[in-house]
Amino acid sequence: MAESTKSGTSGVSSSSTASKPVDDDRFTFESVLDDSSHIEADSIADFREEFGRTYHSYRAGSYYFPNDPTEAERMDEQYEIIKVIMDGRLHLAPFTREKYPRKVLDIATGTGLWAIEMGDEYPDAEIVGTDLSPIQPPFVPPNVRFFVEDSDYPPSEFDLIHTRVTIGCWADMKKEIIARAFHHLKPGGWLECQEVPGMPHCDDGTMPPDYDWLKWTLELYNSSRLANRQVDVGEQLKDWMREVGFVDVHEAVFKIPLNGWPKDTRLKHVGMLWQRNLLDGLQGFSLGFFSKHLGKTQEEIEVSLVDVRRSLFNRKIHAYHKLYVVYGRKPEGAATAPEAEVGGDTGEK
Ligand SMILES: C[S@@+](CC[C@H](N)C(=O)[O-])C[C@H]1O[C@@H](n2cnc3c(N)ncnc32)[C@H](O)[C@@H]1O
Repeated sequence: MAESTKSGTSGVSSSSTASKPVDDDRFTFESVLDDSSHIEADSIADFREEFGRTYHSYRAGSYYFPNDPTEAERMDEQYEIIKVIMDGRLHLAPFTREKYPRKVLDIATGTGLWAIEMGDEYPDAEIVGTDLSPIQPPFVPPNVRFFVEDSDYPPSEFDLIHTRVTIGCWADMKKEIIARAFHHLKPGGWLECQEVPGMPHCDDGTMPPDYDWLKWTLELYNSSRLANRQVDVGEQLKDWMREVGFVDVHEAVFKIPLNGWPKDTRLKHVGMLWQRNLLDGLQGFSLGFFSKHLGKTQEEIEVSLVDVRRSLFNRKIHAYHKLYVVYGRKPEGAATAPEAEVGGDTGEK
């Protein structure tokens, strides 16, 4: 985590209030960093190219999945699918329009849809979204701002901190996100993590050990361990929150079918959307990890993905992912965690 600045906010702002537009068509930036940590806006938008895809340039190499329009579109669809799964709710933490969170942080906001919809839902709240990539839309509600950074915020600042589908982002989510969130939440504030671990599940024995999607997932887990990036975060979240000091920790688990295998119409619909989303993401999820940590060429990876893709069409296999929505409260009167406990390995190379 970079050091807090005097203004208490570090990073490169891309807010709708940005005062220094660079270009009408491109994302615009306004640096709010102090001189010691100034980041050139241009270099942040100058994405790295590899495998015919683009990747973030701020803290380059820290995140292995692409940030190009193909991936942005996939993220937007993923957002809509999770919204359907959660019956349109943006969060399960106990906020309402009457008792709304005044200041909200969305870590690793991606294309920023959650932050934008939170801004609409709570017009008097201030919503901040951060990401390594400036891929958020330029026109957003006036109470929503985006920053390019990984995680640098003032202590005891937020009423709600949120993460969603951040697999592959962290070396140690408990240390880097949950302990830090405790530090940066106001007493009484909530942390909500909505995470989908990569491992598929099956309740009726129809998923064989040689199911190609399962084999691919095991390869993903293997390569992510070598990359020092967690892709299996979900089940541990409630324990991590309690260990860090959160109270009133709740967990809700939703099933996301890997394709349209369920009989139930709603789940079938969700499964068909999820299947398309996985197919759209598969190449991007594989290229960085498999080439850099399993020593595979792009061609070898592409060839191996043919069977993986095909396996995802098999409706006789009743596999599903789990969406974990876990939320907990920082106790009233809790001391902010000492800095020593909130530091951590960002896993950056
Ligand atoms: C799969 S996307 C999810 C985005 C969003 N939360 C959503 O639900 O659509 C993960 C995002 O995490 C961002 N990311 C990865 N490592 C990060 C870090 N250290 N700090 C901030 N953002 C990070 C990536 O740039 C990417 O946009």
